Amino acid sequence: MLDHAAKAFFHFLARRTTFQKIAARYGMRGPTGFARRFIAGETVADAVAAARAIEAAGLLHTLDYLGESVSTLAEADAATLEYRHVVDEIIRSGIERNLSLKLTQLGLDVDRACAVDNLRKILDRAEGFFVRIDMESSHYTDVTLDIFETLWSHGYQHMGVVLQADLYRTEKDAARVMALGARVRLVKGAYNEPASIAYRKKADVDAAYLRLTRALLDAGNYPAIATHDPALIQSARQYAEERGIAKERFEFQMLYGIRRDLQRSLSEAGYHVRVYIPFGRQWFAYFMRRLGERPANVGFVIRGIVLENG
Ligand code: FDA
Repeated sequence: MLDHAAKAFFHFLARRTTFQKIAARYGMRGPTGFARRFIAGETVADAVAAARAIEAAGLLHTLDYLGESVSTLAEADAATLEYRHVVDEIIRSGIERNLSLKLTQLGLDVDRACAVDNLRKILDRAEGFFVRIDMESSHYTDVTLDIFETLWSHGYQHMGVVLQADLYRTEKDAARVMALGARVRLVKGAYNEPASIAYRKKADVDAAYLRLTRALLDAGNYPAIATHDPALIQSARQYAEERGIAKERFEFQMLYGIRRDLQRSLSEAGYHVRVYIPFGRQWFAYFMRRLGERPANVGFVIRGIVLENG
């Protein structure tokens, strides 16, 4: 219950402009800006540098140029252009070619056809890339899966989707995506969903996560088990071992700056571990979701501001 109060509170704060202004002022200032623990920086050069460090540590990565919920076509076009620029920079830098993006960043709230067109422009540019469509709140689940399926059937098969274990519908969605042979990233779900459509108790979300993990390990195409939850990671490892599922047939994923110790130890144990690297000027909403997941992070943010100004 407390989890939901925290999520709701931080989602509410994320929409307050005064709060945004304070965050923008201090969050990314200098190397000690409080948001830097979770966000690689504001430029693609920052992201490439973070990706290089992650590669040097033997881990994989996916780059997310932050942005979501744009409300005009001009913003959607600008985000698309930026993404194409990011693609070019990734190619130029020689780092692994892997991207994550959100459809509302490409204009889904404004015009569906335009968002699809923008996505195609990015996919066409992204030769040799794997592109993951992040999943946003439940309002977008159907449309995201529909767009994904349509593009998949048109031959865009270098992309994957995300499914959220907290939604009751996800077992069916997982079967649908597995039938395509497409890759799933499984997450718990970052949005504050109502009890009519989603599990609200951690124990229920975790139980659903475990069921889905097993289904994906059994029949999925290289699933990504994206969680920092040590118990769920241990269960996935154990299940894969019992079933003789090789370590190369799936990967673990975690967010930049979270449980770096676990990222390293899994990698040292021979598992593929991918770090999700968010960057860009539009980091506020992403950052607030991370605070909402773990209110203890607030103490760390406040300490950062006090230290900087003390
Ligand atoms: P849980 O929240 O139960 O946390 C387990 C443990 O992890 C905690 O006890 C703590 O130790 C650590 N931890 C978790 N969050 C932390 C934080 N913010 N700060 C510090 N420690 C933390 N969601 C979504 O709806 N759509 C999406 O597309 C994605 N994409 C995505 C990609 C990747 C690579 C990851 C890892 C996650 C996502 N998510 C997501 C977010 C996901 O839905 C979920 O909100 C977070 O991963 C937190 O849930 P955990 O599974 O880590 O478990």
